[in-house]
Amino acid sequence: MKINTVITHPFKDQRPGTSGLRKLVTVFQQPNYLENFVQSIFDAVTELRGGTLVIGGDGRYYNREAIQIILRMAAANGVSKVWVGRGGLLSTPAASHLIRKHNASGGIILSASHNPGGPHGDFGIKYNAANGGPAPEAVTNAIYAKSLEIYRYQILDTQNINLDQDGQIVLGEMLIEVLDPVQDYVELMEHIFDFDAIHGLFNSGMFNMRFDAMHAITGPYAEELFVNHLGGNLDWLLNCVPQTDFNGCHPDPNLIHAHEIVSLTANGDGVNFAAASDGDGDRNMILGRGMFVNPSDSLAIMAANAHHIKGYRDGIKGVARSMPTSRAVDKVASALGIDCYETPTGWKYFGNLLDAGRINLCGEESFGSSSDHIREKDGLWAVLFWLNLLAVRRQSVANIVREHWRRFGRNFYVRHDYEGLDLNIAQELVATVRSMLPSLPGQNFGPYQVVAADDFAYQDPVDGSVTEKQGLRIIFADEARIILRLSGTGTVGATLRIYLETYASDPKRHAQDLHAEIQPLADIARHITQLQQLLGRSTPDIIT
Ligand code: G1P
Ligand code: ZN
Repeated sequence: MKINTVITHPFKDQRPGTSGLRKLVTVFQQPNYLENFVQSIFDAVTELRGGTLVIGGDGRYYNREAIQIILRMAAANGVSKVWVGRGGLLSTPAASHLIRKHNASGGIILSASHNPGGPHGDFGIKYNAANGGPAPEAVTNAIYAKSLEIYRYQILDTQNINLDQDGQIVLGEMLIEVLDPVQDYVELMEHIFDFDAIHGLFNSGMFNMRFDAMHAITGPYAEELFVNHLGGNLDWLLNCVPQTDFNGCHPDPNLIHAHEIVSLTANGDGVNFAAASDGDGDRNMILGRGMFVNPSDSLAIMAANAHHIKGYRDGIKGVARSMPTSRAVDKVASALGIDCYETPTGWKYFGNLLDAGRINLCGEESFGSSSDHIREKDGLWAVLFWLNLLAVRRQSVANIVREHWRRFGRNFYVRHDYEGLDLNIAQELVATVRSMLPSLPGQNFGPYQVVAADDFAYQDPVDGSVTEKQGLRIIFADEARIILRLSGTGTVGATLRIYLETYASDPKRHAQDLHAEIQPLADIARHITQLQQLLGRSTPDIIT
């Protein structure tokens, strides 16, 4: 088969964000756009020549076309072997697992995560390293640098490849192995969790759950796990047939977009556990009857209960959370006498800590948590963790959460998102607040006194690399915080995220209304940022 060398010109906008390169489908459909980025990966990561790759995506619109292009380019760039999920599908956690299981040199994951899909939605591409995790910044910077100087790409001249059947395909000098996207992942989960205990819970006659796959990748995984392996009821599964446009929905498991299971658990009609996952299966939302488990609390509860779970029975060495994530897990770490790391937003910063064995559990407020079993966050893993915990403790979700607060105190925590902002204005707002930071300590805002204010910088304790400007922190006495940062995953305009947190150790305060507790901080944030004047907005678009 012939290798074509195609002359091209750089696109200036291929700098990967928080999680790979995300753009509108229409941007990726421009001639050479995807090809340029893929060639930049092969040019930057030279060990892929003669190496092995895992490729798969969340099945969104353009997944199939993109995989065909990537396979032909991989063959032309000397990759020796590729594992591909059947139909070009792999959840992000399953892809991470396969990279590790097969000692692959890396992986290419096609997804825009929780962003909407379809011809007018988003698409994305991300390179993962040999540890199974998102490539570290040094690699994404190198890929970006290559994309700015690219002048040609290489592609094999061949027909489309049939990816709908398991088995081997020879493409030029490259071997493609098409495999079941679900099976290896399910086996991994069986190693970590006590399936018999969960099976017992499911068949106790007292249990009624719902899992919402949001028309995205986790549907087939959920069916295999919850129904075929754990004996759950098929009716428990909602929206489990993956669609390329997620049925026109926003596959983001939060209180707004996964409202179906929110209402099922709110009105006490017998559903005592519900969960959802996102477009590519790495996020999770956990609900009990009348109880939304804040993702930051979920991480803390997992850490405090890890000894109940087979896979973590030997104890955990350390935990990590992204900086804006509430400090609930810090309380657990100090009680357990283990390390707790605070990293910038984005899963890639957990990789070194996990690889070095410094942490076993980590998470972010943005509905993401995981452990050292892979190097991505893992939605179904979190759901199974909770199910396993319910099976062991035989308590309701709400009781587990309340008991946790009684023991460790409650971190009241809310995130406000202002979406679709003008990028320049949003950047100006952040720059203005940044310039105010040195003058804030010592100032009082109502009952709150600022004790520290900075722009978060992180030095990786494993490789010493430094990452700066990762979010503005205003820290008050009594452990309250306001954090401000701009999203790095959007594709249009800017999104301002304001994270608000207060802490109450006194159990009498734990039943207070979350939003009422947070309101004074929201007012302070509004005052400091002058967001009404600058953005013309007084209320956030999304509150989670
Ligand atoms: C968002 C979340 C972040 C997460 C990322 C990828 O990034 O805030 O925690 O790692 O999506 O799922 P952001 O848009 O805030 O840059
Ligand atoms: Zn995701």
